[in-house]
Amino acid sequence: MAQLQSGPVSRYFRENIAAMEGYLPGEQSRDEGTIKLNTNENPYAPSPRVFSALRKAANRSLRLYPEPLSDSLRSIAATTYGVRSMNVLVGNGSDELLSILVRCFVGQGNRVVYPVPTYTLYDTLIAIQGGDKVALDYLPDFALPEALYSQKAALTFLCNPNSPSGTLVSLQEIERLARSVSGILVVDEAYIDFAEAEGVSSISLLQSFSNLVVLRSFSKSFSLAGMRIGLAFAAEEIIAGMIKVKDSYNLNCLSLAAATAALQDLPWMLRNVRRIQRSRKKLTRGLKKMGFQVYPSQANFVMGRKKGQNLRGLYEELKRRKILVRYFDHPGLEDSLRITVGTPQEVKMLLQEMEAIHTNHT
Ligand SMILES: Cc1ncc(COP(=O)(O)O)c(C=O)c1O
Repeated sequence: MAQLQSGPVSRYFRENIAAMEGYLPGEQSRDEGTIKLNTNENPYAPSPRVFSALRKAANRSLRLYPEPLSDSLRSIAATTYGVRSMNVLVGNGSDELLSILVRCFVGQGNRVVYPVPTYTLYDTLIAIQGGDKVALDYLPDFALPEALYSQKAALTFLCNPNSPSGTLVSLQEIERLARSVSGILVVDEAYIDFAEAEGVSSISLLQSFSNLVVLRSFSKSFSLAGMRIGLAFAAEEIIAGMIKVKDSYNLNCLSLAAATAALQDLPWMLRNVRRIQRSRKKLTRGLKKMGFQVYPSQANFVMGRKKGQNLRGLYEELKRRKILVRYFDHPGLEDSLRITVGTPQEVKMLLQEMEAIHTNHT
C-alpha cells in the first residue's frame, strides 16, 4: 500500500477546527458475546413490517435517487404527530438535524445555551461553527437552573428526557422557557417515547411558539439506530430554512422505507417501550440495592451514581466481563455510570456481575 505524505497540515484548517476535540462516540463493539448497554440502543428488533419494506425497496429502486424531501415519510410523520407536512423535516438521524440547526442559527461568536451535563455532541457542533457555548449546571436533582430563563442566546438546547440523567422536565417549564428565550429553543426528544406519563412531548407546544423546534429519533424506541433517521418538527418558515442547509438527498431510500414502515406499526414500538419500562424498574431497584443513587429515569437508560467514587474501575471490570456500560471521563461525572436498559436477561446478568465485583472487592 502506498505511504501517503504526512506533515503539519493543521495550519490549513479553520482555527476553531484545528483547536477543537472531535466528538467521541460510545464504543461500538461487534463482539456477539458482549452485552452492549452503552449507547442506548433498543434490545428488541424493529417491526417485521420494516424488514418487508426494506426487501421491497431494495428490489425496486436502488438505482434511482431517493425523494429529496422524504415526502412520503414526512406525510405519514405529520399525520402520526398531528402536524402538517410542511412542519416536518426528515434527517439522517437526529444528529444531522442538530447539525443543520446549528449551521442555520449559530455563526461565529453567537451564544448557545444549555443545561449540563447533557448530550456532548452539542459542544462539538457549536465548536465547528465557532459559536459561544454557555453551559449552565443543572440543579443537583436535575431541575433547570433559573439562569437558563434569562439568557440572550441565538439557540437554547434542552434534552428531554436528558442524557445522561434520564430525568424529564415538565411541559410547563418548557413553555416558560420557550416564552423567555430570545432565540430558537430546540427540545431534543430522542428518548421521549420511554416516558411513563402521557402528554409530555413539546410537539403540543408548537401551535403556540414559532421559535420552538422539537427533535425525534428512530434510533431508540423504534429500534432503528443502524438506519439513521430523525425528525424535526417546527413552524413552516423554520423547516423551509433548514431545507436550504440540508444535503439534497440526505436520506437513502432504504432508511426512508424502514421509517415509513415503522410508523405504520406503532403498536410494535409501544410494546417494546413497555417491556423496557418494566426492565428499567428492575434495573433501578437492583442498583439502589447496591447502594447507587439512581436518578428517576424516563428514558431507556439509567444513571447510577456513587457520590465521590470514581467508577472507572467498575466500568473496566464490567468490560472485562463483556458488559459495556457508559463511563464519562468528564469532571463531575466520574462517579456515575449510564446504563442502557437491556432485556430482562441482560439486566439480570449485569446486576449479577456487579454484585460479584462488589463481593470480590470487599
Ligand atoms: C440526546 C440525544 N440526541 C440525539 C441523539 C442522536 O440520535 P440519532 O441516532 O437519531 O442521530 C442521541 C444519540 O444517542 C442522543 O442521546
